[in-house]
Amino acid sequence: MAPKVRKAVFPAAGLGTRFLPATKAQPKEMLPLVDKPLIQYGVEEAIHSGIHNIIIVTGRGKSAIEDHFDVSFELEHLLETRGKRDLLASVRGISDMIDVSYIRQKEALGLGHAVLRAKELVGPESFAVVLSDDIIDAETPCLRQLLDIHEFYGSSVLALMEVDGPEISAYGVVDADPVAHNGMGGRLFRIHNMVEKPKPGDAPSNLAIIGRYILTPEIFESIEAVPPGKGGEIQLTDAIKHLLRNRPVYGLKFEGKRYDAGDKLGFLQATVELALRRHDLGGAFREYLKSMAL
Ligand code: UTP
Repeated sequence: MAPKVRKAVFPAAGLGTRFLPATKAQPKEMLPLVDKPLIQYGVEEAIHSGIHNIIIVTGRGKSAIEDHFDVSFELEHLLETRGKRDLLASVRGISDMIDVSYIRQKEALGLGHAVLRAKELVGPESFAVVLSDDIIDAETPCLRQLLDIHEFYGSSVLALMEVDGPEISAYGVVDADPVAHNGMGGRLFRIHNMVEKPKPGDAPSNLAIIGRYILTPEIFESIEAVPPGKGGEIQLTDAIKHLLRNRPVYGLKFEGKRYDAGDKLGFLQATVELALRRHDLGGAFREYLKSMAL
């Protein structure tokens, strides 16, 4: 059994162009879904998967993220004196549960480059990568599902999702064979190759890579080895392809529902569905939606 994964890297230095103008002066990761910023959903998923060591890769104008996970003495004092215990617990809870460090990516030179910035903080151990604009609603956290496979094989594991039709062209797509593994019901794959954003006819399968990864530390050498692509960007997919030459990489069709909250329509869908599931808001919100003449 592989040693337990202790660290999760959250790349949060992208420009968020799909969400302009909201992301002009604030990071996409701080957009609120119901009442929590996107990145908090990812951090909570890590905590519920047993990972408490959080490394956030930030860029220009990302101080709101640091403030969010910091202690806010004035706010806590105010809530305490007003007897607002529930609110106090909601602002205090998360920062008490994690050990968070930050590293800067000065220029948005791609996801691979962002992950490489965390090399020193990660060290020679396997780690998770969470893209916080992918919101995953699952009974067992998606990251936990990947970690179970990693602990068994000791290899890198990527989260996969079936995408049918032309939308597959928006993703990294794997060429993979199913692996027999107890209890997985054909959801585990050994990856042989991957193609970033293929033309619909060229996709090697309908299995798309989404924003949850467990990576072994050799990935850093692979990121350093791959040449930058378009616009000088270093893609994580290219680095994983490089890793594949010498190391096995698995893919797991995770159980749960994923929302692309970095996209306006996906963000709206996630907002509606998560709000409907909230015990404090769901009932009234459902009544409101029903009353609309759509
Ligand atoms: P996206 O592909 O969503 O890019 O990055 P983006 O720039 O944030 O958004 P759009 O496409 O322009 O709207 C996936 C993840 O990788 C991070 C982003 O913050 C996001 O969490 N990222 C991307 C970096 O940290 N640095 C980069 O150079 C690129």
